[in-house]
Amino acid sequence: MTYTAMKVDLDADGIALVTIDLPGQSMNVWNEALMTDFSAFVEDFAKNDAVKGAVITSGKASGFLAGADLRMLGGGGPKTARAATKQEQFEAVFGLNKMLRKLETSGHPAKALLNGDAYAKPVAAAVNGLALGGGLELVLACHHRIVADDPKVQLGVPEVQVGLLPGGGGTQRLPRLAGLQNAAMLATQGQPIDPQTALAQGIIQEVAPRDQLVAKAKAWVKANPKVVQPWDKKGFKYPGGAGPTHPAAVQFHMASNAMAQRETNHNYPAVQYILSCLYEGSVVPFDTALKIESKYFFKLLQSPQARNMIRTLFINKQAAEKGEQRPKSVEKLSIRKVGVLGAGMMGAGIAYVTAKGGMEVVLLDRDLPYAEKGKAYSKSIVDKAVGKGKMTQAKADELLARIKPTVDYADLKDVDMIIEAVFEDPDVKADVIRKTEAVIRNDVIFASNTSTLPITGLAKHSERPDQFIGVHFFSPVDKMPLVEIIPGARSGDKALAMALDYVGMIKKTPIVVKDTRGFYTNRVVPPYLNEAMLMVKEGVKPALIENAAKSLGLPVGPLALVDETSLELGKRIMDATKKELGKDYKPTGVEELMEVMVTKLGRMGRKAGKGFYEYPSDGGKKFLWKGIADYFPTAKEQPSLEEAKERILYAQLIPAAQCYADGIVHDPQSADLGAIFGWGFPPWTGGPMSHIDTIGVEEFVRKADSLAQKYGARFAPPQKFRDMAAKKETLYKAA
Ligand code: NAI
Repeated sequence: MTYTAMKVDLDADGIALVTIDLPGQSMNVWNEALMTDFSAFVEDFAKNDAVKGAVITSGKASGFLAGADLRMLGGGGPKTARAATKQEQFEAVFGLNKMLRKLETSGHPAKALLNGDAYAKPVAAAVNGLALGGGLELVLACHHRIVADDPKVQLGVPEVQVGLLPGGGGTQRLPRLAGLQNAAMLATQGQPIDPQTALAQGIIQEVAPRDQLVAKAKAWVKANPKVVQPWDKKGFKYPGGAGPTHPAAVQFHMASNAMAQRETNHNYPAVQYILSCLYEGSVVPFDTALKIESKYFFKLLQSPQARNMIRTLFINKQAAEKGEQRPKSVEKLSIRKVGVLGAGMMGAGIAYVTAKGGMEVVLLDRDLPYAEKGKAYSKSIVDKAVGKGKMTQAKADELLARIKPTVDYADLKDVDMIIEAVFEDPDVKADVIRKTEAVIRNDVIFASNTSTLPITGLAKHSERPDQFIGVHFFSPVDKMPLVEIIPGARSGDKALAMALDYVGMIKKTPIVVKDTRGFYTNRVVPPYLNEAMLMVKEGVKPALIENAAKSLGLPVGPLALVDETSLELGKRIMDATKKELGKDYKPTGVEELMEVMVTKLGRMGRKAGKGFYEYPSDGGKKFLWKGIADYFPTAKEQPSLEEAKERILYAQLIPAAQCYADGIVHDPQSADLGAIFGWGFPPWTGGPMSHIDTIGVEEFVRKADSLAQKYGARFAPPQKFRDMAAKKETLYKAA
């Protein structure tokens, strides 16, 4: 038999060594080619008497198998899309389960195995590296599992992170090996574990040095010619118990369901379905359990959540990170050394992520103590990591050695790129640009981290405006995954290419946005936060506002976010805008509230220990400030939770849609990535544009109009969306 995605070598003992090795790819995944090959192998394996057993391994240095190719699954997958009837579609989804079941039973019926009338041929997995999702599920279907003794090897089922569940037997074999609790943790959180943890949980049987894996696996196969999986044997019991009458299991099911709803607010059906698979699968025979799993998997595959999450969080995120927006004409650029100007809050963070990305950093500030303080920020991060055992001292020292604090511009002479993060003052920036350009090479790209000043304006101070660009980070830099890249009117292709290459090196997600006040995220977040403050002014209970946001799936409530970014800063920006625009200033309606909170009451936000919340000085948990009702009385009639959710949702959808309509973000993909990774827009939606598609553009326009009537013109939908609705267009092409 010939295979393309794998190689099979039969040895003198009749043991087939299956080496999965997808041609032309750095990592193995379940794609159509591998499904076809593996399925053919399993058919042959089950009936060919010359083959006594099998060892499954990978030909990739980077790992064993990283799961299913989500491109194959997205929108139902090519196979399911081609299949005509629902039944055929289900069968396509059931394919992986069927194949893996055949591998572990050698095609014998469960009853024959149970009665001892038949045995399966032994299959061992020699796992040389990462095995995730369908990769780990293949391993679980083997009778013996040996994994490389390397703490970096990841074993897990991360499907939940894209709105799916482990659909290759993971929800059934994991609890039968590791117990319900461990299986639920793995499948509902999606976090991988290392080989030692997997060993302790009973998921694998052995860890061994990488170069001995195959030999050990073969030895095991040879020594165990007739095998049956534990769950196919008489009297099988789940570790820790299972079933509707087992006290521990009953407790587990009750508690895990309650916890899941608290954590997900019913926004992630995958979590619910995983728990259903664990319960339902535990009270039926194994073959039925697999069908139940496939049934739930199939339901998820057709859900908008999975479609949207796969598209944004996987496909589009990867495309952005691989430089989809990068000008093809520019060759990959080498960035060895970066000059970071300004070692304040942002500069210090930028220096850290740059050094972590392997680059050298010259960290320049006005005074050496400032520059040194900026470097100390990196030290505090790596010290913590070392303390927790997440980084070796040697690695920490290397990282710190890459950062050179300085006040001397001459130290910038051999950098490849500049990132400027000095005060947000055009004169200070102009001065720094001039001084820097006097020493750097002609071909160095200059990126500014300004948050409000137009790049085109700043570039006027540069001798080389084609090499000038905006690279906008978010605070805290080491945690926030998004970077907005802003080409100015005269930025050239090389500037854009280098900015994207740099963001790739620090492993963040870039979006390219238009040079306009606030760029993308800062045009959406302020109106959203204003809306929450308007609600307070109207007398909506702050707790209702915060809970509505959290039940939508936002990580924090808007009032907590206002406190975090500081009311005082909000007021300063408001005052500056008022002054700048004069009589053209359009009141937002929160002026009075800001005045009361900041000027009258000194409630400036979290840093001051008081804002919309109280922050106990002993570090205790923050709680909403009751006194607000004395200034903005609680209204008698409160909106329902659904109404509050809708208002908070549309307060983000409308400005995001406006940015897309105005070309500030060029495509729905960038709008979605920017929202999820920039301000924590609920990931289950796939982002605001995906969500508008899910709602339906027509319905979105209708709802926005009705909110505009109720609350004001700021909710009116952009004309572009009215036109789309009229033409029955969608933002994304239908899958
Ligand atoms: P910061 O005030 O914490 O730091 C600014 C640093 O620049 C200070 O250490 C200061 O000593 C130094 N500096 C000032 N003038 C200088 C000069 N002439 N030469 C050398 N160093 C000089 O400010 P932050 O928050 O770090 O902001 C820096 C830039 O990043 C600003 O443009 C800001 O708009 C932008 N930004 C800020 C964000 C935030 O959340 N704070 C988010 C994104 C961008």
